Amino acid sequence: MNYSTEKSRDLFQRAEGVLVEGGSSPSRGPANYGDYPIFIERGEGGHLYDVDGNKYVDWMMGYGALPLGHAHPRIVHALNVGAPRGTLVAAATETEIQVAELICQLVPSAEKVRFANTGTEAAMAAIRLARGYSGRPKFVKFEGHYHGWHDDFLVNAHPHDPVSLGHRNDPIKIAESSGLNRRALEDTVVVPWNDLPALERALETHRGQIAAIICEPIMANMGVIPPERTYLGAVQQLARDDGILLIVDETVTGFRIAPGGAQQYYNLDPDISIFGKALGAGLPVAAFAGKAEIMEALAWGGVLHYGTQNASRVGLYASRAFLREAGEDDDFFRHTWTLGEMLTDGIREVLKVTGTEAIVQAVGPMFQIMFTERDEIHDYREFCEHVDREKFRRFAHALFRHGVYLSPSAALHSVTSAAHTEADVSFTLDAVKKAILDVEN
Ligand SMILES: Cc1ncc(COP(=O)(O)O)c(C=O)c1O
Repeated sequence: MNYSTEKSRDLFQRAEGVLVEGGSSPSRGPANYGDYPIFIERGEGGHLYDVDGNKYVDWMMGYGALPLGHAHPRIVHALNVGAPRGTLVAAATETEIQVAELICQLVPSAEKVRFANTGTEAAMAAIRLARGYSGRPKFVKFEGHYHGWHDDFLVNAHPHDPVSLGHRNDPIKIAESSGLNRRALEDTVVVPWNDLPALERALETHRGQIAAIICEPIMANMGVIPPERTYLGAVQQLARDDGILLIVDETVTGFRIAPGGAQQYYNLDPDISIFGKALGAGLPVAAFAGKAEIMEALAWGGVLHYGTQNASRVGLYASRAFLREAGEDDDFFRHTWTLGEMLTDGIREVLKVTGTEAIVQAVGPMFQIMFTERDEIHDYREFCEHVDREKFRRFAHALFRHGVYLSPSAALHSVTSAAHTEADVSFTLDAVKKAILDVEN
């Protein structure tokens, strides 16, 4: 059957009439998808179906927000039970307690929880909490880490021309948007990742001023870049030594890498953690959680955090169903890790056999293919300089034609879910082979 996306093209023309760039986020529009994006008709398990009737194995999984896959029967059941009881009460409910209890059981550093709707909101609130609790104005953010689109964080978060980055001892702060409150960025201290001396220097320069160090425990918005072996433990120690709070942003890694998130995998004990994506199992649920003494600073009269939609009533039904499943036994983690390893091993083999200059970086269920001459990419600077993002975009578009869906942005990553099967892996490896031939020729 010939691959055609005519209906998507027509819908995009219509969408452009009423939606900016035909959609609701730049990452869903021409910036990533070229002439027009593929319009999705439905998702089922590990698959997406577009409006032209094309079927794809989906490794994007709602940017990692679908740990059980699309329309998982447990989630659909939970929504069917929850929705008829009222979709919003904006008042206290028992479900909220149950989900908070599940989070505290699974994540040892979580003693108290506050719900939000998105990772961006939770990160905004967490940084305000850290400032309010410590009475210090600044925070450290690492180059290439993404914590949502709030002003304070929106700096050195996208790939840029390597010559614009400045020296690694004093990175040039690159704002990612017009309209930012530039004064907010004055209190954001930007430091290269996986570089302990650079962090030590920054802490020395701003001693007594830094409320928190915030990090993604595994960089997931610059492909997949894991921390070096002892790095995160050392970061935690440096924070402790200076009375600085450690905020681990587990929006991507939470309930994904291990039941207790990447902090469990790397043996960390952060002061505050941020959760989103997988937590809602497809619905907008986010949370930040941490040490009771710190979290208590959110009490009335202290650090303000509001939200009509906080602790989404329907979303928490989905969260509860997912966390119960994730906490039940190891099946979810075993399955997603095994498939992740099968896929990354298989792709590496294809790259070898076809003589393609590319690597796969991965931790368990998260992986990214990087077209680079390097054996490994360690940080943002290497990513900006050595990863061919345009080639990845062409590769992703070729994959679409061969029935595989992932984000065309080289700076994002793919993820396995409970719904994927070994057959999906085999199908994908075959598609990867074909897509590589397409882009290399
Ligand atoms: C690590 C991290 N933090 C925060 C966010 C923001 O989450 P949201 O898109 O739900 O606002 C993201 C989104 O990709 C993320 O990857």
